[in-house]
Amino acid sequence: MVTLAVAEGEYPAFQSWKDEFSAIAPDLDIIWWEDAQCIPDRVDYLLVWKPAHGAVARFRNLKAILCAGAGVDHLLADPHWPHDVPLVRMGGRETAALMEEYVTWACLSLLRETRTWARQQERRIFHRRLVTRTAATTTVGIMGMGHLGGHVARRLHHFGFKVRGWSRTRREVPGVRSFAGAGELGEFLSQVDILVSLLPNTAQTRDMIDAALLSRLPRGAMLVNAGRGEQVCEVSLLAALDNGHLTGAVLDVFREEPLPMASRLWEHPMVTVTPHAASEASRTEQAAYLAEVIHEIEHGVPPALLYDAGRGY
Ligand code: NDP
Ligand code: OXD
Repeated sequence: MVTLAVAEGEYPAFQSWKDEFSAIAPDLDIIWWEDAQCIPDRVDYLLVWKPAHGAVARFRNLKAILCAGAGVDHLLADPHWPHDVPLVRMGGRETAALMEEYVTWACLSLLRETRTWARQQERRIFHRRLVTRTAATTTVGIMGMGHLGGHVARRLHHFGFKVRGWSRTRREVPGVRSFAGAGELGEFLSQVDILVSLLPNTAQTRDMIDAALLSRLPRGAMLVNAGRGEQVCEVSLLAALDNGHLTGAVLDVFREEPLPMASRLWEHPMVTVTPHAASEASRTEQAAYLAEVIHEIEHGVPPALLYDAGRGY
């Protein structure tokens, strides 16, 4: 029997993982990783999100580690991380759909200035500032055209936005203008009205969205960050919002989470804060995706969303 130890969340959540897996993959043995019956050397797969440093290393015979999130940067910060074990990132249709819808909402929210409406409503102000800009006259530029960026680009294109994408290597998506590498970054940014980050957190992407990058965007541009907080230099973002170079931001991820009480981002009239909630699929969908990943590995098929140490994401 193939054994999957669950190390995601707290123990009360375990029963729901067990129920979901039992329904779709009854041949899997699902155990709680801290259970007395869990013998680390006999565990084949370990499901994690934010385990304590050193906790994963005691499982010495793993066929793969399954991450309950798509970003795995926090796991690799563990000095005892078993780098020789394949690490699979979260995927599945619902994960992609949720991110597509979050970014579409964020772009429309910026276009229609909904942050202003929300602030006005709190003060019972019935003031109209009409916006006649539509998706058709707005260019969205997506940094990070991988699994999620590709899905989001297709969805925004079908919605009617003009879409361009930027990635390390060229990614062709029908209807989307593609740019690649540092050499094409300036041209990519030069016509972006809404910049969306769906980059992973790596040594190369850390602090990438800084004052110099923001200054290459047209005046009046806006930002959506659903990648990782480390990519955005908050001081530069706030300065660009305050001096009018940027006119809005929707932020889902932050350097420090929860966002500290003292952060200026909470109160800023042009910033919408969401609590790292852009895309987390239902347990049913996550379990179905993970069962499929285990099935693939058991049959010698490498899963699509494998962390690649050479690339760093
Ligand atoms: P992928 O690994 O599939 O895609 C990453 C993309 O970023 C690729 O297009 C890659 O380029 C590009 N990229 C990486 N490094 C660079 C660089 N230095 N310069 C230019 N482009 C670069 O990841 P996913 O799409 O699955 O996820 C992206 C991120 O989204 C996750 O790492 C996570 O941080 C975040 N996320 C956030 C969630 C939320 O709720 N806010 C939920 C899920 C994910 P190339 O195509 O050439 O490889
Ligand atoms: C993430 C996730 O990686 O929630 O942020 O999946």
